[in-house]
Formats: sequence, C-alpha cells, structure tokens
Amino acid sequence: MTCQSTGGNGKRIYYFSDMPYRFRSAAFRVTILTVRKEMSVEDFVKGIPKAELHLHIEGTFEPELMFKIAGRNNVRLQYTSIEEIREACNFSNLQEFLDLYYTGAGILTDEEDFYDLTWAYLEKAVSQNVLHSEIFFDPQTHTGRGIAFSTVVNGIHKARADAGEKLGISTRLILCFLRDLDESAAMKTLEEALGYRDRIIAVGLDSAEAGNPPSKFHEVFKRAREAGFLTVAHGGEEGPATYVREALEILKVSRIDHGNHCLDDDELAEELVRRRIPLTVCPLSNLRLKVVDRMERHPLRRMMERGLLVTVNSDDPAYFGGYINENYLAVAKALNLTAEEIYTLAKNSFEACFLEKSQKDKMLKTLHEYKKKHE
Ligand code: HPA
Ligand code: ZN
Repeated sequence: MTCQSTGGNGKRIYYFSDMPYRFRSAAFRVTILTVRKEMSVEDFVKGIPKAELHLHIEGTFEPELMFKIAGRNNVRLQYTSIEEIREACNFSNLQEFLDLYYTGAGILTDEEDFYDLTWAYLEKAVSQNVLHSEIFFDPQTHTGRGIAFSTVVNGIHKARADAGEKLGISTRLILCFLRDLDESAAMKTLEEALGYRDRIIAVGLDSAEAGNPPSKFHEVFKRAREAGFLTVAHGGEEGPATYVREALEILKVSRIDHGNHCLDDDELAEELVRRRIPLTVCPLSNLRLKVVDRMERHPLRRMMERGLLVTVNSDDPAYFGGYINENYLAVAKALNLTAEEIYTLAKNSFEACFLEKSQKDKMLKTLHEYKKKHE
C-alpha cells in the first residue's frame, strides 16, 4: 500500500502507512513526510490531549479495588479471584454486562468507597492525557440499596475536587436515570439532585435500552431542563434509530451516547450532522457487547465520513478491556485511521464537551500545539 497524505495543501502532515520492510516488526508508526521522524501510533494516541465524555464511574471498578473494598466492608463476593471476574467479562449482550456491573456496584457503601473509585479512575485518566472528563453516575443503583444520595455525590465530588487540585484534571458530573425503572423513580431521584445543582451539570439515561424508549422519561427530562440541567441520553446502542430521534425531539438532548444506529435513518443522520449533535461512541464497549462483531466493521469511519461529530470514549473500561487510549488505538488500527483523523476525534471531544467556551479554547490550543509539535 502506498502512503497517502490527507492534506492536499502542501502542508506536512502525519500519516500511518504500511512499514518499509525493516520496520515491519514495529507494528505501526507515524511518519512525518518531510522530516522522516517516526512516532508509533501508540505514542501519538497516548500523548494527544483529549476529553472523555462517556464514562460510567461504576464501570471503572477494577477487580483489584473490588476485592479491597469488599474486604473492608465485610461483603462476600460471589467471585473468588480477580481472574474469575475477568473471565466473567465475556458478554453476549448489554443485559449480561449490566448484571455483572450492578453486582460490582453493589459493593460500594461508604463515601470513602466512592472517593477511592473516582480517584483511581482520575489518576488513570490523567496518565492517558485526558484533560477533561464528564463522568456518569447511577444514583438509583445505590439509593435502591439504602445508600444515601449524599454519600454517593459527596464521595465522587471530593475525589473530583482533589484531582482538580493535585492532578490538574477538569471534570463534570452527569447523573443517569436507570431507564428500566419507571419515571416516578427517576423523578424522585431528580428531586434529590436539585440540592446538588452546583455539582451536577446534566442528567442522562442509561441501563437496559430495548423496550425502554426515551419517551418514557418525557416529564422528568422536562423538569430537569427547567431546573437548569443539560440533558444527554444513551440511544441507538442496542435500540433502534427511533430511540435516537425520541432522545433528540422529546428529551431535547445536547448529545447522544453511542448513537450507532442513527446510520439506519438517513434523515436522522442528516439532522445530527446539521445540528452538530455529538455522538459519544465507545468502540471496545461495542465489541464486547456484540453491537459490532469485529472492530474492522465498526461504523466510526462511516460516521466521520458522514460528517457526524463523533468522539471516542471508554464507557465501562474495567469491564470492556481498556480505557480511552485503548479505545482510540483499537479503532485507529482496525480502521486504519490517519493521524489527522485521530486529531479530529480529539478535537471533537473538546468541541462536544460541556465546558465554557474559554475553557474549551484553552484545551483546543493545547491540542493544536501538540499537533504542531509533531508536524
Ligand atoms: N449502556 C447502557 N447502560 C449502561 C452502560 C452502557 O453501555 N454502561 C453502564 N450503564
Ligand atoms: Zn454508557
């Protein structure tokens, strides 16, 4: 295969290519056309500044931390080893994953548990050059077991505050309603959240999608918007394109989480492009939950070519085999993304985030400098 520049304006530009013979063992590299300096795609992805916009904090619960917290809370796990938990991460669909995810989350009891969980994720995110992360949490998973809403929010919030100060990472918090429960339960949760308006930027919708359309949550999302929350919703992961349309039209969301199936409806895709509604795509999640059968067939490239504002995210990294960099790498390799395309994905993540324009611009500048440095 010959190397192709994507620039076309005479500018130097990165590209990934098949390696000259002597480099074949080194898997993947970025070549700079004029300088001929090389950088592996791993290093390029690792170093690129990025934002994470689709991350469930309960989905970052690594088996090692699970055993530690279960031990101090005197909770007996149904698994006897870390390997056994990892082996259980062999899912056929979303529901099989959710069963394990809720079992894990059921160990979290004290404020300290939520703190440790959040801190561990934020340290990992910083190590992967995430400048900003918008974190989902599922309060109903905890309040339903008798844990106070305040315990959950305070633990997460303190870790965010410490990480902001000590690690320099910016964060926002998004409360997700469980769509397999009814709207009155979501409304009760929203009422509790009203006291924490300053700590929660948006509300979202997650859990079992099929059979639980966005329209079921019309009233609670209306109340949430009236109270000043932004709105997002999972849609088009296992559910049809009509769920994505409902999320847009009925819940008036600013972003769609996943959104894979929007491609089944041309008019819908066109509207998402026209309105620049971001999609928070999660490649490794899609592979593990069998939304795609092979990464080579992931729709991300088609989404980009369609003009959609797509971002790459990790969803539930402890369960799906990788954090954000592993997600970028998996699609970069399977879809042969160029460095320019990886840059576009990182740029999209800042454009799609919920920060003020001035904060976005600062991060975009850092990203641009990274690009320039490697040109
Ligand atoms: N989809 C729906 N609900 C979820 C997910 C997901 O990928 N992760 C955690 N809750
Ligand atoms: Zn998700």
